[in-house]
Order: sequence, then structure tokens, then C-alpha cells
Amino acid sequence: MPPHLLPLTARTGPGGRLSVGGVDVLDLAEQHGTPLFVYDEEHLRRRCREAVAAFGDGVAYASKAFLCRAMAALVAEEGMCIDVSTAGELHVALAAGVPPARLVLHGNNKSEEELARALEVGVGRIVVDSFDEIALLHKLTGGHGQTSTSARRPQVLVRVTPGVEAHTHEYVMTGQEDTKFGFSIASGAAAGAVEALSSSTDVELVGVHAHIGSQVFALASFVKAVEVLARFFLPLGLPELCLGGGLGVAYVEGEQAPTISEWAATVHHACAEAGIPPATRITAEPGRAIAATAGITLYRVGTVKELPGIRTYIAVDGGMSDNPRPVLYGSGYEAFLPRATDAERPLQGTVVGKHCESGDILVRQACLPADLVVGDVLATPVAGAYGHSMASNYNKVTRPPVLFVANGQARVVVRRETLDDLLRLDQ
Ligand code: LLP
Repeated sequence: MPPHLLPLTARTGPGGRLSVGGVDVLDLAEQHGTPLFVYDEEHLRRRCREAVAAFGDGVAYASKAFLCRAMAALVAEEGMCIDVSTAGELHVALAAGVPPARLVLHGNNKSEEELARALEVGVGRIVVDSFDEIALLHKLTGGHGQTSTSARRPQVLVRVTPGVEAHTHEYVMTGQEDTKFGFSIASGAAAGAVEALSSSTDVELVGVHAHIGSQVFALASFVKAVEVLARFFLPLGLPELCLGGGLGVAYVEGEQAPTISEWAATVHHACAEAGIPPATRITAEPGRAIAATAGITLYRVGTVKELPGIRTYIAVDGGMSDNPRPVLYGSGYEAFLPRATDAERPLQGTVVGKHCESGDILVRQACLPADLVVGDVLATPVAGAYGHSMASNYNKVTRPPVLFVANGQARVVVRRETLDDLLRLDQ
């Protein structure tokens, strides 16, 4: 496996046996069963530190990429704020002990309950997405700038769409005009929102936010967004500009993505070129770039079906319930055997899951060692973002546990679901 697709502390021992964080991953599969998410804690920490060093205070981790209490605590320890976009993400971050002031509330359709909770606990920022939300904020703050429990006016950013089409999958493109998110600059809606928010005594408008999409490799897309945003932002004289998340990561051999530092340098340069004052707080919200490469998924091969002249199906004990990305976006992944990480991979096959549909594909064009056998542990790298967080119980499959590994130790941060967990909500 190319090292840039593996977690930072990945090492290979005799025969190419993989360890991460000083822990042998085959031993983990033995002890904890499969499927299993394994995260390199050092990798996560280093990416957080890189983001803080590159963007400064205020840079937030987009928790939709992967969230549990341990992750929220780690991210906060490393100095990042956290972007939460639902009551659920807010609840987990608070349960981890993250100070509310370090949270940024997102969402294109925040409910009254979600907004009320955010105001009650005093989240650091609310990113306002619609005129209906402005009306709700007015209602909840009682029209006189304060809730009963929060001492200061809530600080808000206005989310705008710059009309920039990022080069990525249609489902995760958000900067274009035809979108459910934010206020359009071109139509004048964004100016209307600024007008409403800045003349309000209920909230304090501190900045502008934009998120052009996800899994974006071309830094030029961010530069284009900055150019459009700057024209809108500059006359407002506001202190903060957030450029959202979206930095892409390499999933398969041959792909190379910019680093967080390169992304930040490009954004800062573009902001300076556009005349944005140096004192402006320029922030971002990376999710995938923090978590994706830190995590691998371990599966066990259950059957190998060779259809002569057609294809070889390699079925594992997980599937679209632990990683829906290939089905949803046609995303590509690599697969390898962690007992022989660096082995030649001449066997071509399709890695599928155990769900009752043909679309249940994990790796459409996998290359694997020729001596693969039933019972082998098979790994997919770059599985740390939008895998566990989008996992489901389809076919009443229980969701895998999550382990954090570091310094030769593994700790379970999310336990495996049990069959009884599947009955928990039944009445
Ligand atoms: N900020 C906002 C407002 C967002 O909507 C998102 C992602 C992010 C930040 C973080 O973006 P990232 O740095 O992770 O690209 N499920 C899809 C990705 C959906 C992204 C949604 N919003 C996938 O698996 O590719």
C-alpha cells in the first residue's frame, strides 16, 4: 500500500504484517472481531495541530465526518473548535465536555428545538442559513437581544453561496446557485440577510461563511470562491470569514491531495490578493482532511466466488452499512491484506458486502494478493471519514466498533452494537 493512503504510524513487520500505533492490526481483528474501524490517534492529533497552525484559533473540525465522545474530546484538546450541524452532533460534543463556546452550529433547516438548545448552552457561533431561521432567532431571543440563560448576544455568521462550482460529485457540491444551502450572493438574498442580521439587536453578526463542496482537489476552486466572496465581504467590514471545509483526500493509488497547510496558504494568499485586511479572522472547517486517512476498516473474507469470464466476487462481513460511499457516490477505495501489506496484488476482483442487494459494493476494482483465502482479514484504507458516521443497520446488521490506537495500546471508543441493541427502540 502506498504510505500516503495509510495512517501516519502504520508500519510493516515481518512478511508485511501491518501495525498502526504500535499495535498489530491482525491481533485487533482477532480480539475485537470484524468488521472493525481502527483509528490512528497520532494521525488525528497531527492533522488537528496542522489545521490550528495553518488557520489559527477558530478553525473547526466538521464533526459529520466522524464523531463520538473520544473524537470530540481529542479534537478539542488539540485546539480545534467543532462544527455541529444537528441536535445529535451538539449533544455528543457537549457530552464529551467540549466547552459550548468552542462549538459552531450549522444546518440548512435547524429546528426551533435545535436553535433553542444552542442558545441555551451558548454555542460560540451560529451559521445562519435562511430567512426563516432569522425569524426563529428573533422569536427565541425574545426580540431584545438576550435569551433568559445566555448573557451575551449570540454571534452569527451568514452562510452565502458564491456561485462557484467545485469540481466534485454533484451530491457534495454546495457552492453553486442551485442549492438548498445559504443565501445567494448573485440574487441579492445574501445582502438581504446581512441587512436583517446587522440591524437586529438579537444577534451580533460577526462574519460570512461559505462552503463550496466536499472532496475538492483543485485549490483553484477555493481561490475562485475567495475572489467572489471578497467582493461581498469587504464592504461589510466584518471581522470573520469562514471558507468551510471540503479539502479532498487521496483514496486510491495515483491520487494526490493538497495538504491542509497548502490549502491554508493558498486561501490566505487569495484573501490577501483580494484585499481582505490581514486582521480578518480567516477560518475553515475541515472534516475529511482530519479523519479520513487516520482510519482503516478491517473485514473478514467469507466467500470467494469466481464467475469464469465474468468476475471474481470477494465477499466480506460488512458492506454498504459500514461504508455507503461507493454506492452513493461511486467512490473508489483500495483493498489489501494486512498480513502482507506490501505484497504484489495481481488478483482482480470486486469486494462486496453481505447485504441483500447487488449494489452492495465496497471496492469495484480491487487488486489483491493471489494467495487470498477465505478467512483472511481484508482492509480498506482511508475509511476514517463518512464511513462510521454514515453507517446504518440495514438488514439489521450491527454497526462495527471503533478503536483508537496509540503507543502500543488500543482502546474501544465505540463498542460493537449487539443484537439486543437492535431491539432497543422497539415498543
Ligand atoms: N462545513 C460544512 C458546512 C459542510 O457542509 C461540510 C461537509 C464540511 C464543512 C466538511 O467538509 P469536508 O472537509 O469533510 O469535505 N458524505 C459525503 C461528504 C458530505 C459533506 C457534507 N458537508 C462523502 O462521504 O463524501
